[in-house]
Amino acid sequence: MGSLNRHQKQSQLRGLLISIEGIDGAGKSTIAGQLERKFIAEGYPVQLVREPGGTIISERIRELLLDPGNQQIAAKTEALLYAAARAQLVAEVIQPNLEAGQLVICDRYTDSTLAYQGGGRGIDLEWLRDLNRLATGGVRPEVTLLLDLDPQIGRNRRSTRQGPGRPGEDRLEAESEAFYHRVRETYLQVAREEPQRLRVMDASKPLPEVVEEAWEILAQSLNL
Ligand code: TYD
Repeated sequence: MGSLNRHQKQSQLRGLLISIEGIDGAGKSTIAGQLERKFIAEGYPVQLVREPGGTIISERIRELLLDPGNQQIAAKTEALLYAAARAQLVAEVIQPNLEAGQLVICDRYTDSTLAYQGGGRGIDLEWLRDLNRLATGGVRPEVTLLLDLDPQIGRNRRSTRQGPGRPGEDRLEAESEAFYHRVRETYLQVAREEPQRLRVMDASKPLPEVVEEAWEILAQSLNL
């Protein structure tokens, strides 16, 4: 497909959303950034966004959600706040970019809500699926890369990331290992239910290998 010009590449990927998921420490943000650079180098217009965040309002909701002082947030309030941040991001950034023919890469999306609020907090998955549909208006990823990782490795990676001048653990990162095991299991359960969309990757491998594999999966699923 290297012979397509920029315009053809743009129309080939019109309206496509890719999401990247996994527990904290799986390397999502780094991998999302490298994939963004690879798409741009190949001539595909791309917009990278992160959740929760990506708009002024969503970033303010993010602060509320991640503040370790906000221990009193009820599980359903938490789910609704993530959904509110997502609704704003879809309305303000994702939908307009998809309509303009951009490829959008989302660092976390609806599956994070199923895994963290469903698996982690124990909220009913069907309730959360309905909530996700309401928040996104049905805007769904074409492909989701699930960076699967043992929570113990995730925690070790996060603790080496923290240090002098770096932020400490946020409210979610401070959760127990049992919480993260449930998050991981729920991600894998969703992947078993939707094997066409979710592609499970071993995130314990060295980063360049994971990026290479992620690129191959995307190139194949998007017919690049
Ligand atoms: P993230 O931006 O990945 O954290 P960091 O920048 O520290 O890597 O995500 C913030 C946290 O929010 C993360 O612990 C996962 C959690 N989260 C949910 O619980 N539900 C959701 O729907 C989303 C999008 C994130």
